[in-house]
Amino acid sequence: MRHASGVSFGPSPPPHLRTFVAVAEEQSFTRAAARLRIAQPPLSRQLQQLEAELGVTLIERGSRPARLTEPGRVLFEQAVQILDRVAEMRSIARRMTEARLGRFSIGFVASTLYGHLPAILRDFRAARPNTEITVLELTSIEQIAALKEGRIDVGFGRIPFEDPTITRLLLRNETMVAALPSGHRLLGKAGPLVLSDLLDDPLIVYPKSPRPSYADQVIALYRSRGLRPASLHEVRELQTALGLVAAGLGICLVPAAVERLQREGVAYRALDDALAISPIIMRHRGDDRSAELVLILDIIKAVYRREGITLGR
Ligand code: BEZ
Repeated sequence: MRHASGVSFGPSPPPHLRTFVAVAEEQSFTRAAARLRIAQPPLSRQLQQLEAELGVTLIERGSRPARLTEPGRVLFEQAVQILDRVAEMRSIARRMTEARLGRFSIGFVASTLYGHLPAILRDFRAARPNTEITVLELTSIEQIAALKEGRIDVGFGRIPFEDPTITRLLLRNETMVAALPSGHRLLGKAGPLVLSDLLDDPLIVYPKSPRPSYADQVIALYRSRGLRPASLHEVRELQTALGLVAAGLGICLVPAAVERLQREGVAYRALDDALAISPIIMRHRGDDRSAELVLILDIIKAVYRREGITLGR
């Protein structure tokens, strides 16, 4: 900025104001120069230029410690306020730029895609059109490592591991349903099935690794009821498990939302068992206070309200 007097204030904030405030606060040209990391001659020059610009003397020359003149005292308050405002402008601009260039990375286990994750992602993208969102399919264990390394900002998984640096929140307990091959004898049975109905069928579980996984939740369910399936077949992923069910090679237990995946050769039946549930757990770094994290949780709450789901149950 070039003023009528010909004094160049340069880009904001005016260095002359910083110099004036430093001399006034330090009560010393030497200490002010050290604080601003400049030599004393340019510091004195800047002060003189400011005094010429304003038409008043600000610091009593020759005084030790350096004292403010009467106009200097009045203008010191103004200078402090101007510098504070400039700092605030910078901070607002930085926050706006960060929000504009914002990135948010989400880790999820595949089965959450059959639940409310797509709606949550849609609403998040609508609320933050300028945030670059990345999604990564990761197992629950992989999500913890990815959170710690900063590769994701939030994770949606099913296995309740503890980690001191990671905060977890139970979003809801999703019921499991049985996936049976079309034409299976139990499809003729009225009402929900119980686990003991399924013992003659090979049980297909996923994912095979890493463990523990959703597979262990299903195995633990049988064990908790003192039951053993005819045989156990471990596969890498949900789609493989459903493919084998369609082929008539066994049955599997899947989170209820998977039922939306209407697949030829597979029929779903409800299970009458209070323990046949799989949690959906949200995780984030314990020290993350980002607006995006608050936003995604608000969106989840809104989606749950819409769907009549109670958070945490
Ligand atoms: C849900 O289906 O409830 C859900 C899935 C992923 C993220 C959040 C919620």
